[in-house]
Amino acid sequence: MRDRDAQPIGGIARRLAAILTARGIDPAAPITDPVEPIPALQAAQARIPARYQAAVADHPAVTAWVRAIAEAGRPGPEGAPGIAQGRSLLIVGTTGTGKTHQAYGAIRSLLIAGVRLRWKATTAADLYAELRPRPGHDGERELMDLARCPLLIIDDLGAAKNSEWTEEITMRLINRRYNEMLPTLITTNLGMVDLRQHIGDRVASRLTEMSDKVILDGPDRRRALAAERRRIAAA
Ligand SMILES: Nc1ncnc2c1ncn2[C@@H]1O[C@H](COP(=O)(O)OP(=O)(O)O)[C@@H](O)[C@H]1O
Ligand SMILES: [Mg+2]
Repeated sequence: MRDRDAQPIGGIARRLAAILTARGIDPAAPITDPVEPIPALQAAQARIPARYQAAVADHPAVTAWVRAIAEAGRPGPEGAPGIAQGRSLLIVGTTGTGKTHQAYGAIRSLLIAGVRLRWKATTAADLYAELRPRPGHDGERELMDLARCPLLIIDDLGAAKNSEWTEEITMRLINRRYNEMLPTLITTNLGMVDLRQHIGDRVASRLTEMSDKVILDGPDRRRALAAERRRIAAA
């Protein structure tokens, strides 16, 4: 499957795509930065890593997911729709294919689309480091905060060293989000077989049901960017 080919997306996203197409809107068109500043986006930028502060979710399946989530949102106190239940996205690809870029780009696109959004982001490795039992630190509360957060990025799932303990933490986190049908953006370097081995069957089974899968199989963009810089320097 090539990077930009149509990929399976959930039923809601498909229905929404049909509605948008009927309205003359391309459901796969990226939601780019507006001319007018958006206060919610400006506030969120402080929590987005520098490298991804201008990221645009330009993969059609990611854009379609953003539109589906935005459309499903409930109007909040200020009239802007908030995140409701929704499907998750499993963004799969080797190193440098743009997984983290698409994940932060999706958050930015939701804010640009006017969605009222409480979100958190962590890498799997940071998650385990943060939750490790230690004196004076309530890991349990932190886990529940992440489990209940309306939108969560879990970056690089399967990249950290695993153990029975990491499997249990991942299971509790994913299981809660699965039960509550809370949208989660998950990125991973691993194919399903390796991921299943790494995070355990119970987590893998839930992820398979709750997520639409997006495969990024382009080149390593970091190497491509470095080669481009070298080419410019030599010119
Ligand atoms: N769609 C894109 N457009 C422009 N730059 C991108 C895009 N996707 C990724 N990049 C850039 O390519 C590099 C690698 O992307 P990243 O998301 O960190 O890869 P991954 O998380 O898959 O390892 C980063 O410098 C990122 O800013
Ligand atoms: Mg990454």
